[in-house]
Amino acid sequence: MVSKISKTDDKLRRLLSEKRIKSVEDNRVGSEVFDKKTLETLYKLANSGYIDLLNGAISTGKEANVFKGLDDENHFVAVKIYRVTTSDFKKMQYYIQGDPRFHVRTTNKRQLVHAWVNKEFRNLKRAYEAGVRVPKPIVAKNNILVMEFIGDNDGNPAPTMKQFYPSNPEEILKKIIYYMELLYKKAKLVHGDLSSFNILIHRQEPVIIDISQGVITDHPISNELLNRDVTNIIKDFKKLGVSISKDEITSKIIDS
Ligand SMILES: Nc1ncnc2c1ncn2[C@@H]1O[C@H](COP(=O)(O)OP(=O)(O)O)[C@@H](O)[C@H]1O
Ligand SMILES: [Mg+2]
Repeated sequence: MVSKISKTDDKLRRLLSEKRIKSVEDNRVGSEVFDKKTLETLYKLANSGYIDLLNGAISTGKEANVFKGLDDENHFVAVKIYRVTTSDFKKMQYYIQGDPRFHVRTTNKRQLVHAWVNKEFRNLKRAYEAGVRVPKPIVAKNNILVMEFIGDNDGNPAPTMKQFYPSNPEEILKKIIYYMELLYKKAKLVHGDLSSFNILIHRQEPVIIDISQGVITDHPISNELLNRDVTNIIKDFKKLGVSISKDEITSKIIDS
């Protein structure tokens, strides 16, 4: 027992060594991200070998921060940590209501965020199992999601399509439409926030991320969300010189 505790302490010291905390604070989010409960969750994940250390922030978003980490076996992982204080609870409630997978009747913010993270994990899993190229989900606990790191072997994260224009936009678009179709027909999900911000370009291939607001196709707002996704994709690819009509994409996605 004693050795187990001291092993955990050791892991924590490593995980959050001064240098690493500093890299987090450099992005001026340290105290916000690492509240006491989040630290406890990180400790538990560290103790189970999912994260051995956090080394560097990849992104500081509106509701979540994404960090690069290493697991017990020295593989890179992406660690998405939702901030309970700045999350959009109205939105979370709106998307979670009407999803039969969740019975969250709560106004408790922390509980809502936990349900939201669980939703992102389950959506990723469904998408992954349906053959959509998304980061492989590893574990979700409380407000923390650990997933496959998309990037090169040196730990440089893949750029988003917003940051990096692909040289093969036609092929990328074809793949994205195919993934939207798989998502709809096999995973029975609609992404709901699809655009060049949530598509990474990795080895000239698209990887779809950030699927937390995804809803199942039976959800009352799924059509509205699909429509929005299609519109965004058309707009983003038009900028890259590739034109496609709304009907063409939509029928490919939903027609049997
Ligand atoms: N699995 C991953 N591998 C590498 N980078 C990632 C991964 N997931 C997210 N990122 C990076 O973090 C950013 C934010 O992640 P995202 O899930 O889109 O959260 P947000 O809700 O802040 O938009 C992405 O634009 C991307 O640059
Ligand atoms: Mg995003």
